[in-house]
Amino acid sequence: MKTYQFPEGFMWGGATAANQMEGGFYEGNKGLNIADVLPGGKERLDILQTPGFNFEIDREKYGYYPNHEGIDFYHRYKEDIALFAEMGFKVFRMSIAWTRIFPNGNELEANEEGLAFYDRVFDELHKHGIEPVVTISHYEMPVTLVKEYGGWRNREVVTFFERYVKAIFNRYKNKVKYWMTFNEINSGLIMPIMGLGFAIQKEEDKYQPTFQAYHHQFVASSIAVKACHEIIPDAKIGCMILYAPAYSYDSNPENVMYALQEERFFNYFCADVQVRGEYPAFIKRYFKEHNIELDIRDGDLELIKEGTVDYIGFSYYMSRTEMKDKSGFGSSEGNLIGGVKNPFLKASDWGWEIDPTGLRISLNQLYDRYQVPLFVVENGLGARDHVEEDGSINDDYRIDYLRDHIKAMGEAIEDGVELMGYTSWGCIDMVSMSTGEFSKRYGFIYVDKHDDGSGTLERKRKKSFFWYKEVIETNGEKL
Ligand code: BG6
Repeated sequence: MKTYQFPEGFMWGGATAANQMEGGFYEGNKGLNIADVLPGGKERLDILQTPGFNFEIDREKYGYYPNHEGIDFYHRYKEDIALFAEMGFKVFRMSIAWTRIFPNGNELEANEEGLAFYDRVFDELHKHGIEPVVTISHYEMPVTLVKEYGGWRNREVVTFFERYVKAIFNRYKNKVKYWMTFNEINSGLIMPIMGLGFAIQKEEDKYQPTFQAYHHQFVASSIAVKACHEIIPDAKIGCMILYAPAYSYDSNPENVMYALQEERFFNYFCADVQVRGEYPAFIKRYFKEHNIELDIRDGDLELIKEGTVDYIGFSYYMSRTEMKDKSGFGSSEGNLIGGVKNPFLKASDWGWEIDPTGLRISLNQLYDRYQVPLFVVENGLGARDHVEEDGSINDDYRIDYLRDHIKAMGEAIEDGVELMGYTSWGCIDMVSMSTGEFSKRYGFIYVDKHDDGSGTLERKRKKSFFWYKEVIETNGEKL
């Protein structure tokens, strides 16, 4: 069997987000964030896909709110980090919950209890020789900024964000050297609630506010990049995009053109601004055709030009297959990005099409276009696991999935792609982002917690735990 050479110092690890794992919902003076007001299950998917959400907690209507407890990482971080260390993690990707540091987002002073919590987590990671990779904003905007300011549509939010990033850069400058600004920044194009902090009220009203909110995020991202370079000169800061290569369903040039447009609009719009430092021509044409006029203030474009990122972090779960006229073709449900079913691919239990070659394609496309280091910061298989009577969990399907994707990275490295590392998503089971389920598991570590909120929270090593340990030990040679 072919073996792959991963570069020395390749950053193997796992990825998580505060809102999906911490719990500790009201502890340490934490404020409410967007994930806290989303119920679990089908209701969440409906909320994310239908206009009009009001960002209120309504227990009578929805019942259980899974993110409030998460998997209790807030209290169990030592045990969990010890397990990551046992697997040999070099890095651990996590996010800081904005509302632990600024509970409502608009305070003048940071919350010491929140700052101290992450000090403890970073110290524990370093004690085990694990480098933290920190996402500054992972679907965790303070609800106060959503309700009282209208989310990222409001320019004032840039000021609040600047205060937040400067507080964390100053506090953790000796502890964190790898940062990312906004998780899956382009997801706001399909799911503005999570990324942009507002719910559209009617489908046709989304264009102007969406792109105005994006402009504010680009300005904020550049402010963060510049501040990071000034405060922590030896740090690297990246953007983070949701990448899903768009294939044309067939060789009909109309479909090929359509897939190209979809790809540019969804995959490249944000990265073009954050990596190249300017709005691309295709989006300017789109603005014109949709009568979108952005409020761009003096100095914004210069700032965007100066504050470009050092690397591209991206999530890869699946490709998408596109055609201009989709009527009569089954749609693919995956990761909320749509497209039609690809006849060559199988799908996960949640309908996400499994396509390891798509990862090699993505890496090559991104590197061809931008020529900056890449970092696969999310990839994995959401699946139902079964605990055997003897307590073992034989998740061979997950091992197969990960092996094939790691091989695809090995091929891309041989193609000449500069790849910094790989943090598979959900290294420990936690709440699913899109459906709020615990039963959609990604981890090497099983957590006894279920969709109805029951469970002991006990952690168990799955078969994939021992497999991934060996992958890291051999720097990807033994797959
Ligand atoms: C990414 C998000 O879209 O996919 C994560 O950055 C999320 O937050 C992951 O958990 C997997 O999606 P899901 O919906 O299966 O949890």
